[in-house]
Amino acid sequence: MGLLENFYKNIGIDLGTANTLLYLQDRGIVVQEPTLVAFNNRTGQILAVGEEAKKMLDRTPAHITIVKPLMNGVISDFETTQEIIKHFLHKIKNQSFWSRYRTALVAIPTNLTEVERKSVEDVTVAAGAGKVFLVEEPIATAIGARLPVEEATTNMIINIGGGTTEISIISVGGAVISKSLKVAGQKFNDDIVKFIRDEFKLLIGEPTAEELKINIGSAIGIEEKLEMPVRGRDMATGLPREILVKNTHIRAAIHRSLKSIVDEAKSLIESAPPELVGDMLKRGIYVSGGGSLLRGLDRFIEKEVTVKTMVVDDPLTSVARGLGIILEDMPKYNSILSNQQRPRQVNL
Ligand SMILES: Nc1ncnc2c1ncn2[C@@H]1O[C@H](COP(=O)(O)OP(=O)(O)OP(=O)(O)O)[C@@H](O)[C@H]1O
Ligand SMILES: [Mg+2]
Repeated sequence: MGLLENFYKNIGIDLGTANTLLYLQDRGIVVQEPTLVAFNNRTGQILAVGEEAKKMLDRTPAHITIVKPLMNGVISDFETTQEIIKHFLHKIKNQSFWSRYRTALVAIPTNLTEVERKSVEDVTVAAGAGKVFLVEEPIATAIGARLPVEEATTNMIINIGGGTTEISIISVGGAVISKSLKVAGQKFNDDIVKFIRDEFKLLIGEPTAEELKINIGSAIGIEEKLEMPVRGRDMATGLPREILVKNTHIRAAIHRSLKSIVDEAKSLIESAPPELVGDMLKRGIYVSGGGSLLRGLDRFIEKEVTVKTMVVDDPLTSVARGLGIILEDMPKYNSILSNQQRPRQVNL
């Protein structure tokens, strides 16, 4: 192996609405941090990125603004996104020499327009990558979950992220049909804030809602008795007040959103070509993304859609691991990479 091979390494980027992951060839996942930037709004200077910026979320002084540069999986703030990628690439520089000529694989939602795809490419090149390949997220997820994507099988993947849920039926290396909805982790948090406000006349922040969701939330009734005290601001008096929130409250709060996800899954199955559906029903549904960690979500989907449903292993990293598997063996996945060059989205 020549010396240069150690210098020119490929990199995989999963740029999510909630979390950004970087996979470095021969190393594995080297970055897994929130997609956040803290700015000093007096000077415009970046103060912190990722995990460090998140720490500032709770007690932000007036001159600091926290920016989420992606909305529902789409880059809404080009410059900030570029700064994030640059920052993380710089951070891992000690582990390898990032060069302009290295290839970057970037995971993207299936429903991006040509212009949005171009902007992902541009932002990655501007941050220092040489060549960029875009890989559709459900494909990366399937490869990360070691589903047999090269064989003539059909799989349904439901990826529930922070900003979007993407429901896809993929077969032989390309997304055949997919549907994307803006109901995912953040919407569940919003649902919880609203429920606590309406039911308890108490105002809580999104971070508290997220804690409730993760600590005591579930999609279906569970035997475990889960509850959590939270403090918020009483809407009538304006004073702090503490309440005890139960699992049943969270379930009620997010039920409608969960229902909308399974309804979309059902309608996608109904509109899919019958020859794909038969195989897919046999293989079952795979759920991925951070949202799939919600207790009982697999059983909820299974019951509603009446198809066997499984959560992939380590669902927060499956996209990044999929990119990793591809970039460690690019020739093998050549057809997938060239497929990704043109949009294969079928709008239903
Ligand atoms: N244990 C858990 N239970 C429920 N939800 C969880 C859990 N852990 C993380 N989440 C949620 O998962 C979401 C983040 O998931 P993920 O990292 O897959 O999203 P993303 O890829 O950044 O977003 P997107 O794919 O929409 O761009 C957050 O909304 C978070 O609240
Ligand atoms: Mg994602």
